[in-house]
Amino acid sequence: MSTEKQLKVSAIKDGTVIDHIPTQALFKVIKILKLDECENMVTFGNNLDSKAMSYKAIIKIANRYFKDEEINKISLVAPHAKLNIIRNYEVIEKKVVEIPKEVIGIVRCFNPKCITNSEKVATKFQIISEKPIELKCHYCEKITNENEMKVK
Ligand code: CTP
Ligand code: ZN
Repeated sequence: MSTEKQLKVSAIKDGTVIDHIPTQALFKVIKILKLDECENMVTFGNNLDSKAMSYKAIIKIANRYFKDEEINKISLVAPHAKLNIIRNYEVIEKKVVEIPKEVIGIVRCFNPKCITNSEKVATKFQIISEKPIELKCHYCEKITNENEMKVK
């Protein structure tokens, strides 16, 4: 981190920085990772300038490290997010998110008649396309695409 560069969201001592989140995905990421219920210090910024994306969002979670399977859940809404693992103010590891083969219980099925929308059944999808994301429902076999995708 260069010294002349001023951070828009303060640096953290230890924890996880999720960078390069699309601006429209910020609150979805917060919901997927249940950060609204997290008791650690969580700071975030939206509509920040980014060279790669023009605008981006960033989330910093102090003293918390996520399991890969936990973090991969955000790949549906933030496929190019970068994770930075921070220890003693240093970035000690960078990770990218990976799209899982199967998605359970994160998003709703687009089909209003699907059983998962009327009964207490966790949704389950197979990823049939990654770019753009297309999910095939295990129950009704209808396809939910990126634009129709709503986080549960
Ligand atoms: N960061 C932080 N606290 C620290 C160190 C880093 O919040 N103690 C944040 C930085 O603000 C940045 C991210 O972690 O958003 C990654 O840091 P760094 O690798 O130094 O930045 P870049 O080189 O810009 O990362 P990249 O090009 O991989 O996006
Ligand atoms: Zn369905």
